[in-house]
Parts: sequence; structure tokens; C-alpha cells
Amino acid sequence: MKLRTIDGLDLRGKYVLLRDDFNVQIIDGQITDTFRIDQSMPTINKLRNAGARVVIVSHLGRPKGTRAMEYSLKPVADYMGIPLIPDALDKDFLKNMHDGDVVLLENVRFYDCEEKNDPVFAQNLASGFDLFVNDAFAVSHRAHASTVGVASILPSYAGDLLADEIKNLDAVMENPKRPLLSIVAGSKVSTKIGVLKALAKLSDMLIIGGALGTTFNYALGDHVGNSLFEPDQKQTALDILAYARENHCDVMLPLDKGVAKEFKRDAARTNKNFDQIEPDDVIIDAGIETTARNVDAINRAATVIWNGTVGMAEWPPVWSYGSFSIADAMAARTRAGQITSIVGGGDTVAALVASHTKDAMTYVSTGGGAFLEYIEGRTLPGIVVLAA
Ligand code: 3PG
Repeated sequence: MKLRTIDGLDLRGKYVLLRDDFNVQIIDGQITDTFRIDQSMPTINKLRNAGARVVIVSHLGRPKGTRAMEYSLKPVADYMGIPLIPDALDKDFLKNMHDGDVVLLENVRFYDCEEKNDPVFAQNLASGFDLFVNDAFAVSHRAHASTVGVASILPSYAGDLLADEIKNLDAVMENPKRPLLSIVAGSKVSTKIGVLKALAKLSDMLIIGGALGTTFNYALGDHVGNSLFEPDQKQTALDILAYARENHCDVMLPLDKGVAKEFKRDAARTNKNFDQIEPDDVIIDAGIETTARNVDAINRAATVIWNGTVGMAEWPPVWSYGSFSIADAMAARTRAGQITSIVGGGDTVAALVASHTKDAMTYVSTGGGAFLEYIEGRTLPGIVVLAA
């Protein structure tokens, strides 16, 4: 999709309302991963260097229209070293801004009108600004006042990060180097039906793993013990397998699993084939044979798209084995110039960070839900309003 971008705009002295997605995890006042903020910096600096007066609007979490201060963007403003304006609708500070200044508005979801895309709220948010720049790919699947509403009021453009996301995702979806391998994992089939079908159609090979994979194993009659899976998604899983066959996509399901007697980080790990899994076993990671098969598929691919960890990657080293092995294999092949690697989703990106492989990938998306919806081929409301 071609977008209206900020290139060539005369920005000096202009008041720019910039939508970023600073929805980051904050624990005890500390940001656990600054990836989304860091990725937003080039556009912010470009606007600032062009002499714009930049006012950033973002959400954090789901405070549901209340001023719940645990969702304050203060830690983000502090990390960036810029002032936080305590009320997203305040306009008084605008008159004191100079060319190149940057400030951050407090969480826009402190107003419930934001998520309703209330036209009066959007008008209030837009007032005082000359133009709107959306650089928040990660929230562009939401038709909210700060993504869609303001775009119909102000001249609106895509920021460089958003444009880059679309360019990279379009390239892999429209003209991928083949064989194309997609790896989809995570916890729920119900949230990934659309993306599984889209990738089954697009890909030559599809690995389904994690608790998602367990549901597929269950659907095929395998023992899954006392593990997390969705029994009510049995038919959906079978339908997806049939759909993949019709589309000549080679689906690879888990062959074995790393299991324990308790769902605990320090639980003792055993490797089991499905016929060995007992009723009190809990699946926590991909198994040894599955992991070797996954790495082999990566070694045969020319493009790899990955979303969703195949085990508890946040419990290294024992339970991150399956996910880190994927990350390592993808990183090695990408570094050697043998594959194009595209990764998206918060947990998956966290696994890249933890395994020190993030910088090796061809493209790492800032999107979670937005990444999935875009890959699925859905129209994202925040992006369609920026089409050239
Ligand atoms: C995300 O983290 O996926 C985006 O910031 C969207 O957040 P939301 O699911 O709360 O709308």
C-alpha cells in the first residue's frame, strides 16, 4: 500500500500531533523493553530537526477511561528526557513551544472517548495542530480517536516507522523468496485462526507450535496430559489442516515435548513423545526432535516469518530451548545472507532480545495484534486513512 509520507513537507514552526505506540511493559516504574520507543526515535528526530513542534500522543495499557496512574506515561517521558503534559487535551503549553521542541501527552486512554473514536473528542485532540503524523503501526488496527478520528480532521501522514513496517510486510507477503516458512505459535488457536489460514495459503511450510500446536495434536488424538490447550477448537484445528492441504502447504506439528509435573520455572524437565505423555504431565516447551525438525525447516527456507514462542521462552535456560533454537537458527541464516527473516509479536520479540538475536533479523515488527491482522490481509483502519 502506498502511503502519504512526511518527506518533502515544510515542517518548520508547524505544530505536529504525532501518534506513537509507547504501550510498553512497566514493572515497578521501570520499562522492561524500550524497543517500541527506540524504534520511534528516528521519526521524532526527523520532525524535530525539520523545526516542527512535536506533541506525541500515545496510550499505555487499558485504563478504560480512568486516570489510573499505574498507566501513566511518566516513565516513558523520563526515559526520553522530554516533558510530560499531564492532560492529553491541555493546549496551554503549545504557546510556549519552540521549533524543534518535543513533549509527550499523558495517556490518551485516560479518556474513554478515545476508544469510542468520539468525534468531539477527536476534534478537541486535533485542535491547535497543523498536521497529524501516525507512526504507531502497533495500534493501527484500532479505530480510535488518536489513530483514525484526528486523521479525518488534520492533514495526515505516515511516519517513517509506520511506512517501513508496511514496506517490509508488503515485500514478504507480495513477493517472498521461496521456500517460505512460517512459524506460528503462542497460546490460543482462537486468536490466530485468521493468520494461520492466511499463512497456510501464502507459505510453502508452516510450523505450528506452542500451546497452539498442542491443540492441533489433541485434535489428531495425541495425549496432551494436563497441558494448556483449547479442546473447543478441535474442529477449527482440523479445518485449518484441511485448508493447508488444499493449498499445498506442508504443515509441521510438534513431534515431542519438554514436559514437567508442574507448570513451574524450576520444575524438572523430561522429553516425551506424545504416546509417553501421562495425564499429570504439563507441556512447557518444544521437544528435542521437534526442535531439530524446526531448525532443519529453517535451513531449507529462503524466507521465514515467525510469530509466537513455542514454549516458556521467559523461563531460560531450561524452557526457552525450543524458542531460542528457532531464534539462533534464524539469526545464523540471516547473518549468512541465506534468508529474509521477519519477526513480530511482543513475546517473540522478547525472546529475540533474551537470546541476543534481535539485531540479526531482517525485520522485527513493533506490532503484536496489528502485525497479525496485517499479515492476515485485513484492512487496518489507522493505515487506510493514510493511503496515497
Ligand atoms: C499492542 O500492544 O498490541 C498495541 O499497543 C495495542 O494495544 P491494545 O490491544 O490495548 O489496543
